[in-house]
Amino acid sequence: MRNLSRNPSMEWSSWLTFPQLCALAVAWAVMILMEFELVNGAQAQASDRTRTALVAINEELRVSGWGIEGSDFCSWTGITCHGDNGNSTVKKLNLSHRSLTGNLTAIAQLDSLEILDLSSNEFHGPIPLELGKLSSLVLLDLSFNKFEGPIPRELGRLKSLRSLNLSSNLLVGEIPDELRSLEELEEFQVSSNVLSGHIPLWVGNLISLRVFAAYENELDGLIPDKLGSFSALEMLNLHSNQLGGPIPSSIFASGKLEVLILTQNNLTGGIPANIGNCTRLSSVRIGNNRLTGALPLTIGNASSLTYFEADNNNLLGEVVSSFAGCFNLTLLNLASNGFTGSIPMEFGNLSSLQELILSSNNLSGGIPLSIIGCKNLNKLDLSYNRFNGTLPKEICNMSRLQFLFLGHNSMRGEIPHEIGNCMKLLELDLGSNYLTGMIPPEIGHLKSLQISLNLSFNHLHGSLPPELGRLDKLVSLDVSNNQLSGTIPPEFRGMLSLIEIDFSNNLLMGPVPSFGPFQKSPNSSFLGNRGLCGEPLTSCEGSFGIDHEDYHHRVSYRIILAVIGSGLAVFTSVTIVVLLFMVRERQEKVAKSKSAGPTEEEETDTRPTIEAGNVFIDNLRQAIDLEAVVTATLKDSNKLITGTFSSVYKAAMPSGLIVLVKKLKSMDRTIVHHQSKMIRELERLSKLSHENLMQPIGFVIYEDVALLLHHYLSNGTLTQLLHESCKEIDYEPDWPRRLSIAIGVAEGLAFLHHVAVIHLDISSANVLLDSNYKPLLGEIEISKLLDPSRGTASISAVAGSFGYIPPEYAYTMQVTAPGNVYSYGVILLEILTTRLPVDEGFGEGVDLVKWVHGAPTRGETPEQILDARLSTVSFAWRREMLSALKVALLCTDSTPAKRPKMKKVVEMLQEVKQG
Ligand SMILES: *[C@@H]1O[C@H](CO)[C@@H](O)[C@H](O)[C@H]1NC(C)=O
Repeated sequence: MRNLSRNPSMEWSSWLTFPQLCALAVAWAVMILMEFELVNGAQAQASDRTRTALVAINEELRVSGWGIEGSDFCSWTGITCHGDNGNSTVKKLNLSHRSLTGNLTAIAQLDSLEILDLSSNEFHGPIPLELGKLSSLVLLDLSFNKFEGPIPRELGRLKSLRSLNLSSNLLVGEIPDELRSLEELEEFQVSSNVLSGHIPLWVGNLISLRVFAAYENELDGLIPDKLGSFSALEMLNLHSNQLGGPIPSSIFASGKLEVLILTQNNLTGGIPANIGNCTRLSSVRIGNNRLTGALPLTIGNASSLTYFEADNNNLLGEVVSSFAGCFNLTLLNLASNGFTGSIPMEFGNLSSLQELILSSNNLSGGIPLSIIGCKNLNKLDLSYNRFNGTLPKEICNMSRLQFLFLGHNSMRGEIPHEIGNCMKLLELDLGSNYLTGMIPPEIGHLKSLQISLNLSFNHLHGSLPPELGRLDKLVSLDVSNNQLSGTIPPEFRGMLSLIEIDFSNNLLMGPVPSFGPFQKSPNSSFLGNRGLCGEPLTSCEGSFGIDHEDYHHRVSYRIILAVIGSGLAVFTSVTIVVLLFMVRERQEKVAKSKSAGPTEEEETDTRPTIEAGNVFIDNLRQAIDLEAVVTATLKDSNKLITGTFSSVYKAAMPSGLIVLVKKLKSMDRTIVHHQSKMIRELERLSKLSHENLMQPIGFVIYEDVALLLHHYLSNGTLTQLLHESCKEIDYEPDWPRRLSIAIGVAEGLAFLHHVAVIHLDISSANVLLDSNYKPLLGEIEISKLLDPSRGTASISAVAGSFGYIPPEYAYTMQVTAPGNVYSYGVILLEILTTRLPVDEGFGEGVDLVKWVHGAPTRGETPEQILDARLSTVSFAWRREMLSALKVALLCTDSTPAKRPKMKKVVEMLQEVKQG
């Protein structure tokens, strides 16, 4: 009231006379004074009550930083108040992400509460009915806890509620009918529980509903047929339930729908034609249902559509050409339906299309030449259809193609020589067709081919081109069931990554090259040929004139990492990253003697001879004993970290000095073959001085092992600082320290980029902290020594650490400077949120980056994202954190070109610091 009385008086002053004004002023003064007394008294009481309530809450929850004697409760973490000191009430309580547990009943006493966020804690047991008393509540978020039992009917009393999130708990039973009175509801989320029964019809009457998510439950029955009729529904996500019946056309009625996810239900009927009303519709996922009928021609009006997935249904008719109107379409998956006809010519207009998946239908005709207009196509899967015609020689004009699946069709003619231009191809399947002619030697140019090459069940003849031996990353090769003749070229021993091979049912002869993967294959891989011999078949006479030189392999492990994925970072839960780790022991003996902890005597017996070694820093030469370094790395008890490329050991020198030793895992004799090159690089790196980079101080090389020496840093890694110490009770919020760590890492990386070094494994585990918490970025040698572009290793498939891998990596398979910026952005988010880059708590397929970028869609504020233990300490910290969050969002942009350069990142963060 006092507030109200001021503003009108200013307007009135323009037409009231002076005496009138004076009289009014006096009258008001009296009124205000009286009112002030009353209000003040009442509010002081309210304030006391609030304090008592908070103390009671804290007795249960033990919130760190609460209950300090004499302190104003409005300054306690997570609390936002109404009113001034002394007469304040709690308006907002945000205690998310605090590992809290305990009885919540006392919260019901905070009767002015408007926002209550208890998400991501450890609360269990039933949701307290008393929460129904918080009649001013606008937002209630209890998601990501372990609440059990039914949704209390009492929540129906929260008449002002606009956002209710009960997702990711263990709630059972039906959605209670009492919630029908929540007429203001805009966001209603109950996903990932064990809810059963029907979706109540009244959900269709909620006039403000924008977001409805009830996915991953056991709901059955129908989707309410009025859903969206009265409201502007923007997001509907009901996947993984047992819902039946049709997709109601009402959900498209307002035309505001942006995201529709109904995958994994039992839905029947057709796709409503008014889907075309929705010009903002970006994502449609209705796969794995029982939908029937044809695709609506109106789909082309949904011009924002980027993702359409309707696989595994009973859809019929043609693949409609009107999809070509959706010029932003990045993924179209219509696999496993009953589509007939051919691929529309117009699809060539889809220049954003990255994945076209039409497998397992009854499609026929040729591959239209116009398809090369899809210049971003990365996956073309037409397998299991009746496509005929020839493989167009222009197919590789789609230069981003990584997956080409044409198996199980009726393709004729020869494989064009131009296939050698598909430089990005990871997997090629042309099996089970009627292809003729020879295998073009150009396939051997496809250096990126690594998952599989399948040419089986065709009519190919002629000899195997020796060029295939250059495919040193290829894991699976199947040329079986053709008419291939001649011998297996000895060059095939160059296929160092092979694990699965099949040469069976051809006309091959001569010896099987003596090469591990061949000998370890079953006989069946070679059967049905004219005359193959030698291991694993019967022995040869030795008269074939092919040299039997033993191929020396001292490699104890081969790590093949294949990352398959779609780069559609726009959609959560879309990107599928399959990490395929195949670890093989080639020489078991070598492996055994290395891993079995040797006894003292054995140790001296088997101690390897040092082939090369040096200490770069003059005044450390005396203190470092290279023999002692080697000995230390033979003991598992000295091991500190096992990393992607290396293990880290702590080595105590006889002089008392402690050094950190990084042991590079041997790969393909890289170290032996490139020893002098490595030494030169190491020496160069040791001179490349920057205070935020961890440079080598020396090295030792023996056998196929390189040990890199570093200063020992006492404060562990950034991962440990962020994720291990934080749960401790005496956690000390220190944003300035975190900010200067962020800046230091950025400076180190900016320097690396300045000298044109791309880091291959940026993660918080590779940021080490010295005794003053100065960060030093480690693993820089790896980037130099194993840089695939320099031909020093065949590990270009190694992407770095999980959670830090930029989305474009899935189709470029190359680590770039913008990719580094992305990984850095992940570290910055880690610093701001104290969350791990990958955490089950984010939901399926969601990592830290997606979780943060998705906050606005979920209606969450930045406060719900930042580590509240820091952001609630002071306004200054909060402001700085918000500015740093902006930088992190830029760095993790899904489009590499939009990310800032590291130099710019440093500047922006320095501005944040100066305020
Ligand atoms: C190659 O394709 C054929 C026919 O499509 C299939 O039967 C075979 O399993 C495939 N080979 C491998 C190694 O996957």
